[in-house]
Amino acid sequence: MFSALPDQPEDKILKLMQMYREDPREQKIDLGVGVYKDASGHTPIMRAVKSAEKTLWETETTKTYVALAGAPEFNDAMVGLVLGSAVPRGDVACVATPGGTGAVRQGFDLVKLGNASATVWYSTPTWGNHISILKHMGVAHKPYRYFDAESGEVDFAGMIADLDTALPGDVILLHGCCHNPTGANLTQPQWRQVVDLLNERGLVPMIDIAYQGFGDGLEEDAFGVRLVAENCPETIIAASCSKNFGVYRERTGALMAVSRGGAETGRAQKTLAYLNRQNYSFPPDHGARLVSMILTDEALKAEWMAELEEVRTGMLALREQLAGELKRLTNSDRFDFIARHRGMFSMLGLTAEEMDVLRETHGIYGVSDSRINIAGLNSETVPLLAKAVAEVVGG
Ligand code: LMR
Repeated sequence: MFSALPDQPEDKILKLMQMYREDPREQKIDLGVGVYKDASGHTPIMRAVKSAEKTLWETETTKTYVALAGAPEFNDAMVGLVLGSAVPRGDVACVATPGGTGAVRQGFDLVKLGNASATVWYSTPTWGNHISILKHMGVAHKPYRYFDAESGEVDFAGMIADLDTALPGDVILLHGCCHNPTGANLTQPQWRQVVDLLNERGLVPMIDIAYQGFGDGLEEDAFGVRLVAENCPETIIAASCSKNFGVYRERTGALMAVSRGGAETGRAQKTLAYLNRQNYSFPPDHGARLVSMILTDEALKAEWMAELEEVRTGMLALREQLAGELKRLTNSDRFDFIARHRGMFSMLGLTAEEMDVLRETHGIYGVSDSRINIAGLNSETVPLLAKAVAEVVGG
């Protein structure tokens, strides 16, 4: 039987992570996988997470199962973090999941159960694993235009034109903030137009929010998801804690299904818990517990927010520096968009061959679609990257 197993395509991002680890060169820069790194190239455990972990170690007395939906205090805290006061808590079904990816996968499962004939529309480009999971699950999916590589901005007219052809009941997969891989995001007026379109055409929004706090701020980054949840009859939300709490390997995330309360929300809650049971039974608790300890303790929360803000502003400074260096070296405004983008990623607009040269000649690892992880840089490596890019594009 095993010999009949089909070959599976390699995940571009994970392959790059492996290649970087195996590269013996001393001078190399990892701008591949979306993991935050400080100036020394280390992915630190956030201060508040470390404190919560210490308290947890001292006070936790059992490792028995919690609940299929995960710890209620985690779910409450996540609904608060993502949705604020946009909708009443009673309108939100929520379960803990193994990371944001677990939530995405489970969200697609929810779609399959609720409307097996729905097509899931994803942005071009999107995080590669969105498409890979949809394919794996046999869920119908179609792309909508999103990014204009020429200007480095959102192709909003293209996006609206494509979504306008979706059928009622289709699911529109949106990035809540810090679009992965482009770094180009919807403006507030554009979010409003998207909401109008969703409602006019009876489309169901599904929002993947994996970088809240990495763009313009915790509240600012939740603008779109809150607007949608408040104004659309049904919204699916996959939220990740991997990046903004730095708990990557703990696999911490939440899946929410927002409706207008009552029987519908109750049915959604039961379904989400059922899906947990079918897929992995109880969701992981350790990371979720740390997150809820932080979000429910004023001092810990303040400490976490302060560190998250350092991370966010650090990335903004790197964006400014990189855009400035590239402007100087290429004597053009071709790369100005880097400073306007938000979040961990931007796409440089280089070809796959040019990205190969960056890796082979300069030891700089970015994804072949030219996505780079801004947080993989520091003030000393920015000039190295800029010089290499200028060389590669012939500036
Ligand atoms: C990324 O896009 O690099 C991250 O979301 C990590 C991953 O799992 O791909």
